[in-house]
Amino acid sequence: MQSWQWNTPPVFFQWGGAFSLLIEYLRSQSKRWAVCCGRHFYENGWSQWREKALSCGLEVEIWVISGGEPTVGMVDELITSLRKWQPEALVGIGGGSVLDATKAAAAMLVHEGSVQEYLEEVGSKTLTSSPLPWVGVPTTAGTGSEATKNAVIIVPDKRVKRSLRHDSLWAKAVFLDPQLTVSSPWEVTVNAALDAFVHLLEAAVSKKAHPWAFALADSLLEDIVEGLRQVKKDPLSSWAREKLLIASTAGGIALANAGLGAIHGFAATLGGMTSIPHGRVCGILLDHVVERNSRYTDVYERLSIVKRYGKTAGFVRFLSEWKDFLGIEKNFRGFSLDLSAEEIVRLSTSSSMKANPAEVPFEEWVSMWQELV
Ligand SMILES: [Fe+2]
Repeated sequence: MQSWQWNTPPVFFQWGGAFSLLIEYLRSQSKRWAVCCGRHFYENGWSQWREKALSCGLEVEIWVISGGEPTVGMVDELITSLRKWQPEALVGIGGGSVLDATKAAAAMLVHEGSVQEYLEEVGSKTLTSSPLPWVGVPTTAGTGSEATKNAVIIVPDKRVKRSLRHDSLWAKAVFLDPQLTVSSPWEVTVNAALDAFVHLLEAAVSKKAHPWAFALADSLLEDIVEGLRQVKKDPLSSWAREKLLIASTAGGIALANAGLGAIHGFAATLGGMTSIPHGRVCGILLDHVVERNSRYTDVYERLSIVKRYGKTAGFVRFLSEWKDFLGIEKNFRGFSLDLSAEEIVRLSTSSSMKANPAEVPFEEWVSMWQELV
């Protein structure tokens, strides 16, 4: 008999009111909070927020996380600095990189050594103590990192991205406010939304598939398609921004409970060696990987969005046209990848690759990559 469980942090949703809700929540939990955020919040919201938090009796200090996806060096430096201030708990306010750095810091503040020693595949240690409590407030609709139990970290000396993953890494609470995402430019919105789309799609059909992950994907994949169509017409569309944010957090919950697939397996390899945004890599790979998988499985055909286009072949044609509409490249030839097709496939051994729904032969993946690089 199959057995399963379903985990999710508590999620609070409010249009335009997340920061008031957040302060009330922080007051009920701890006194001394370290706030990790992106530059946008630091420049546009921090001073006002800080005043309100201080007037409510909280002790708060800020750490600005900038410079893209977190690396081992960046996380280790952040922890050294945080240790001096000794927070009781952490708040992450920002995109996926900020939330991943916050999550990793929450764990590493109660562990010795470098975060690299605890990463999947490249490290040999496992987390043994409960992390400090952390709370997530996403300002982009994409990674779903606020609702996952892993932080993705770049390991520069091995040129790979790997996860710090543990069942204790869930946020204590997640605060969703679509107002915070309205100022995202088109390209950031598209890259993030494609990441969320791929999370839902891969979680729905993964080898570790979960009936509720499938249900979330089945109802929300089309919201992402419609949401992006609407944002292109009207970037301020509240309907679209709300749909995209809800779908992206649901994508995080789905992947945390059901795993991912080959798109993320390959993206983990490319993420360590290029600066192409993660969501963009997922978008470029999307139709190509679905097409290769469909030669060995018809699992996609259970999804409503696929049925709408007939068989998987029709869905692949839709994905290719959708990417044209969004302005996504058809391959990686405009980027200078310095690895051969064969090397990319050989290096792609992360946990996501193992959860891919089809057993696609090595040579078949190589042939796909030969068309892409
Ligand atoms: Fe992703």
